[in-house]
Amino acid sequence: MEVIPLGPGFGAEVRGAGLAEVAASDEVYAAVRAAFEEHSILLFRKQAISDELQVAYSQRFGPLEVAKAASLGEGTPFSILTNIDRATGKLVPADHKEALRARANQLWHTDSTFKSPPALASVLSARVLPPHGGETEFTSMRLAWARLPEAQRNQLAHSFAWHDYAHSRGKIAPQLASERERSTMPPVCWRMCWINPANQRPSLYLASHTYAIEGMGKDEALQLIERLIADATKPEYTYLHRWQAGDVVMWDNRASLHRGRPWPDNLHPRHMVRTTISATDADGVAELRPARAAA
Ligand code: OGA
Ligand code: MN
Repeated sequence: MEVIPLGPGFGAEVRGAGLAEVAASDEVYAAVRAAFEEHSILLFRKQAISDELQVAYSQRFGPLEVAKAASLGEGTPFSILTNIDRATGKLVPADHKEALRARANQLWHTDSTFKSPPALASVLSARVLPPHGGETEFTSMRLAWARLPEAQRNQLAHSFAWHDYAHSRGKIAPQLASERERSTMPPVCWRMCWINPANQRPSLYLASHTYAIEGMGKDEALQLIERLIADATKPEYTYLHRWQAGDVVMWDNRASLHRGRPWPDNLHPRHMVRTTISATDADGVAELRPARAAA
């Protein structure tokens, strides 16, 4: 197995081992798990992907999330990102819920910070790709953390932030998150620094879903969140993944941000399937929880 660096200081392509080998072998899983802990983003090319293989691979890393209420794939391990209308086979119109969701995915975020437990990792497979556009862009929140002034790191290591799915959706359309989504996913609070227990490396933990910081005024907090994300995602710090047929990309939701990039979605279909692995205490969740959670 070869691990070839991809992005500016993070990310790697895995060659000589694919999803099937990870699913079948403890040794290959251990090697890929080590690469995941080290590089945060892993790319596998030319995979003969199927839903079964994606689940078998993903389950190696931990328990799978069930796709959230009111999403395509609800109640299954698959989050479906698509502009193809399942009933008609046609492209959805621009004001369709799935088109708006694609726009929300184009905000810098990491998956499931609004869930409890949050996510360790996501595995995204390309099923139908547009001829151009529709890339996925990544940045390292480990490197973002390391670039912060020491005094700010000391403060953020003991700060707690609130995350809400409805907050990021509200940036696209006020009612994009439905009542059922709001009631099944109430806001959650996490430490703003996630230390990886495998290597003790800290990451800045926040996302488009983050709307408040404990002990800080609302506007001040929103400005700080925006500034931290802007600094973390300057173009020189990002890796733009241009999808090819057969690609599978896995990312560490503890230690990275990502965003979808636009494509002419009125002209071309794009269909992606994501499995998401929940974080456990072995992945560092216990230290993320506030001792007391004030609203
Ligand atoms: C995701 C996501 C972006 C994309 O699957 O979690 O944000 O490019 N995807 O599809
Ligand atoms: Mn995402």
